Amino acid sequence: MKIISVINYKGGVGKTTLTANLAGELACRGYKVLMIDLDPQASLTFSFVKPNDWRKTLAPSKTIKNWFTPDKGTIKFNDLIFEPEAVKEHISGDGLLHLIASHLDLINVDLELAAQLGGANLRQAKQNFITTHSRLIEGIEQLGKNSYDLILIDCPPNFNIVTKNAIAAGDYVLIPAKPDYLSTMGVDYLRKSLDRLVTDYNECATAGEDTEGIHPKVLGVVFTMVQFYRGVPISATRPFIAQTKKLQIPVFESYIRENKTLFADAPLYGVPVVLTNSSRADIVGEIETFVDEFEHKVLL
Ligand SMILES: Nc1ncnc2c1ncn2[C@@H]1O[C@H](COP(=O)(O)OP(=O)(O)OP(=O)(O)O)[C@@H](O)[C@H]1O
Ligand SMILES: [Mg+2]
Repeated sequence: MKIISVINYKGGVGKTTLTANLAGELACRGYKVLMIDLDPQASLTFSFVKPNDWRKTLAPSKTIKNWFTPDKGTIKFNDLIFEPEAVKEHISGDGLLHLIASHLDLINVDLELAAQLGGANLRQAKQNFITTHSRLIEGIEQLGKNSYDLILIDCPPNFNIVTKNAIAAGDYVLIPAKPDYLSTMGVDYLRKSLDRLVTDYNECATAGEDTEGIHPKVLGVVFTMVQFYRGVPISATRPFIAQTKKLQIPVFESYIRENKTLFADAPLYGVPVVLTNSSRADIVGEIETFVDEFEHKVLL
């Protein structure tokens, strides 16, 4: 089982869209995939579930918020999982696409978790750091190693404790970025924040008797919403792509092309673009090429 957190500080760079399409395509290829929506905006959730259905069946007690709330003692991580309906008919064979939905109240959870940090002495403070940052690790451990081939965690555009939980739980970090100044500027900063989290966590872990350290790797940056002219990214975007490659962070060869109509409408139908019978076969083909590259790096 491989665990990937999808992260960028910058909002609106295509994290959720990429997560939904990657998960959908891999399930279609026969992989067992669990998506976890960690963003209080719940965009990934609403890409697969209608708001009314979410309100009735998931919001009361079946979202990731229930895991992070202090009385989680009685909840099993497994009980939060469900199978989105609309996408089922697109997946055959052994493939599975499951989701742990988010909740708009998750925004308060970060504050509650932050209040649990610190302690009467250094030892206690280190223990509280680990407890607060390893809640998701605990949940995923409950699932068992062979339950899924892949877990994809869609993170909010911040680096708060819930996001750090995703990084701590993950084998890899996948960074979608638009090829523009602000989106790429954050990539190097994100890498530094990652390094700091790993150092802090592992330092605290050595204080506890049976706490394992964490070793998430950057899987790579994938450029999204790329505009093309004559088969190559337009010249205005090329310096940002080149600059990112110089950061010594892996960069995916394949791009996700910009197409507002196609990507904006997909959540209405509960099925990601890559699984639809879109007339834009070129765009679907490009997403499939990205998934080939991802599959090769992570799953084969
Ligand atoms: N390749 C694309 N071409 C055009 N529009 C896109 C593309 N990918 C995503 N979008 C649109 O851009 C908007 C933001 O995308 P998305 O929600 O995936 O970004 P995000 O990084 O998850 O945002 P947030 O930081 O708010 O979570 C959405 O309206 C989505 O439909
Ligand atoms: Mg998002």
